[in-house]
Amino acid sequence: MGEIISGKELSKEIREQVKQRVSELKETYGKVPHLAVVLVGEDPASQSYVRGKERACKRAGMDSTVILKNDEITEDELLQIIGTLNKDDDVHGILVQLPLPKHIDENKVIDAIDIRKDVDGFHPLNVAYMHLGRDAILPATPKGILTMIHSKNIELKGKDALIIGRSNIVGKPVAMLLMKEHATVTIAHSRTQDLKSKCLRADIIVAAVGRPNTVTTDMVKDGAVVIDVGVNRVDGHLVGDCDFDAIKDKASYITPVPGGVGPMTITSLLQNTVECFERIMKQ
Ligand code: GUN
Repeated sequence: MGEIISGKELSKEIREQVKQRVSELKETYGKVPHLAVVLVGEDPASQSYVRGKERACKRAGMDSTVILKNDEITEDELLQIIGTLNKDDDVHGILVQLPLPKHIDENKVIDAIDIRKDVDGFHPLNVAYMHLGRDAILPATPKGILTMIHSKNIELKGKDALIIGRSNIVGKPVAMLLMKEHATVTIAHSRTQDLKSKCLRADIIVAAVGRPNTVTTDMVKDGAVVIDVGVNRVDGHLVGDCDFDAIKDKASYITPVPGGVGPMTITSLLQNTVECFERIMKQ
């Protein structure tokens, strides 16, 4: 029987530390980190993520502002909002919830965010720093995954890691971070042939494709570590990309959905907001 890595429990501990740090920062600087979140449109999943981020900020004693815009906003108007937030000395983190409506160029918007306030770590300069192994704001989901792995002292050096999914938000950065910690990394994706044989070789599987039952128990080596990043709604329930119930008896460690990577993503965002605040204040 594998051990479940609870993102919910780990998040509780870390968010308590973040809260403590925020109160120290308030003592030192007379103000607290302030995250501004921009949400365009009415996608229910995005609305729910943004509410979760706002609630977590408030509970950690940080300020948060949510700027809601309907999906008729023009690219120029959105860029102007970013420009205003960049200049506002009382805003330390800027997050534009993705995806954006089709008529807006996501790259232009991300490029416009002041890198010092890029709490998502999506700005190309932050991405470059991460790829170079330099000091960088790390994207929240990959950072949360690494925090979960470290919390159990799971050895990465020399291990075979298989990442399923090649997104800019999860797959690619997770691959870089695991490689930095000396894992041998394979990235699989929608065109990969014979996913099963690649899974069976893996000591660590990170599933981030957004399709239920992508990883089934016959694809998992005994004692493997399985990190499930998927969030899928099936018959009104949230499930991941892995067949959790069957795999948990075979894996050494497994993350649940819900209560796994999801809460860790928000926790990492809180840490990143504190980090951006500290960097800005020290300038
Ligand atoms: N949409 C899905 N995940 C994310 C994320 O981590 N950050 C932002 N900004 N949008 C997202």
